[in-house]
Amino acid sequence: MSSKEQINMNALPSHIAIIMDGNGRWAKEKGRLRVFGHQNGVKAVRDTVEAAAELGIQHLTLYAFSTENWNRPKFEVSALMELLVATISKETKTLMENNIRLNAIGDLSQLPKSCYDELQVAMEKTKGNSRMTLHLALSYSARWELTNAAKLIATKVKDNLLAIEDINENVIADCLTTKGFPDPELLIRTSGEYRISNFLLWQIAYAELYFTDKLWPDFRSTDLYDAIVDFQNRERRFGMTSEQVSV
Ligand code: FPP
Repeated sequence: MSSKEQINMNALPSHIAIIMDGNGRWAKEKGRLRVFGHQNGVKAVRDTVEAAAELGIQHLTLYAFSTENWNRPKFEVSALMELLVATISKETKTLMENNIRLNAIGDLSQLPKSCYDELQVAMEKTKGNSRMTLHLALSYSARWELTNAAKLIATKVKDNLLAIEDINENVIADCLTTKGFPDPELLIRTSGEYRISNFLLWQIAYAELYFTDKLWPDFRSTDLYDAIVDFQNRERRFGMTSEQVSV
């Protein structure tokens, strides 16, 4: 039986997040520049988005550019930004045809204007789509997001709009860029690295982690299916006992 056939369609994770890693190594293996890896990473993005939507996944979040990625060589940063602009502009039509909404999370004010504008246009065009939401994490880091949330909460307290005793998990969640979206249930990282790299630290509290040696440009729908099957074979206890969750 193929991994797709093994998927229980009644127990799909509602939100899958992916740390797309290994573009640089993939290109290096082929004696090419790192940018070649990013260009081929777009094919993996397309395949994964299509497969997730087809299955009925509600939310897919892709870690496309971290706050730390700004420290990469200037040439690579500009190439990545250009690739993002070109891809978003080219793929908006496909997103519309497939009823997929585009959302972006991160410190978007840091993006070059062309990239920021292209994103806004695509988000506006696709905002009524309901089959799946594709979240792109751009200039994102969880520590940035949590620091920002602390500032928002402190301001509300200072302005007497919130009492300290009323600060709870929901208040914090509402100050994050993922406000209103469910937490990821499955987090995938490619390229054989076993790290979270400052990604959705609050939101993945109970996510199942799945690591694969595949480099991102080689990741395809079958790899997504494998990860979902693995997820479905795990027992999610949320701090309870095995007996409690199996009743
Ligand atoms: C990590 O590989 C990948 C990135 C930092 C960028 C991901 C971007 C894309 C796949 C292109 C476009 C994406 C969208 C959503 C349109 P790495 O460079 O860290 O690889 P390495 O660890 O082998 O050096």
